[in-house]
Amino acid sequence: MTQIALITGANKGIGYATARALGERGMTVLVAARDADRGRTAAKELSGAGLDAKFVLLDVTDAATVRAAADLVEEEFGRLDVLVNNAGILRADGAAGEPSRTTIGTLREVFETNVYGVVTVTNAFLPLLRRAPAARIVNVSSEVGSITSLTDPASPLFVLTSVPYPASKAALNMITAMYAKELRDTAIKVNAANPGYTATDFNDHHGFRTPEQAAAVNVHLATLPADGPSGLLWGHLITLEGDQNGVLAW
Ligand SMILES: NC(=O)c1ccc[n+]([C@@H]2O[C@H](COP(=O)([O-])OP(=O)(O)OC[C@H]3O[C@@H](n4cnc5c(N)ncnc54)[C@H](OP(=O)(O)O)[C@@H]3O)[C@@H](O)[C@H]2O)c1
Repeated sequence: MTQIALITGANKGIGYATARALGERGMTVLVAARDADRGRTAAKELSGAGLDAKFVLLDVTDAATVRAAADLVEEEFGRLDVLVNNAGILRADGAAGEPSRTTIGTLREVFETNVYGVVTVTNAFLPLLRRAPAARIVNVSSEVGSITSLTDPASPLFVLTSVPYPASKAALNMITAMYAKELRDTAIKVNAANPGYTATDFNDHHGFRTPEQAAAVNVHLATLPADGPSGLLWGHLITLEGDQNGVLAW
């Protein structure tokens, strides 16, 4: 039975690389994007590469598009095997995003996408995920959502001071843990992914990892075996040399 995977924000960056990698593993990939042109172009590229890819209109901040996307998946497939909550934005006030310069407007904007969007999408698709034999939910989080890393003076991430984005990913980590707890007696696994600092439009391509390396983290969590973990923050470990992955502290 071909697995069905939906990736939000799949028209570019890590989401696109994740869609490609899951498609290359034989899954039908639903390329969810908020912009129809960008989404269609991405899905077409993947189809052109021989993958089974379909565009689905989905803005994580627009509940009506989320509902319509879930209805469409239900009609066409009746279930969903993999949900990758990848769509995310980065905003900060002030040069370094100092807490004292943070505006509620920026905080709200970031939380709308990175936090409320994930809950909206997950709850809309959960009935379909429950119908799959062993669904996997991957919440694309970040090492900067780790309170441990950002408060440890020995951590390379200690220099960060910004509130909106790190707080949104810390919230996403808690959300991940709570969904994993609610679903612990089911076959569904829910984990948060740390793709690592990756060269995409997100950071004007300053990241030192490739979208393919980042996608490999998402793919690992999207294809965990039955005895795999649930409720972890897992992915790139900045403190180790090279492309090494593992469990991160919350
Ligand atoms: N790059 C990194 O270093 C890094 C590190 C850790 C975690 N992450 C996380 O990885 C994820 C992907 O980041 P990326 O680097 O691939 O960024 P990116 O290249 O900027 O791509 C972000 C994607 O999210 C989509 N998106 C934004 N708001 C949306 C909304 N309301 N509804 C639907 N889609 C929306 C964008 O669509 P449009 O094209 O329409 O804007 C785009 O497809 C994010 O959650 C980010 O926080 C990235």
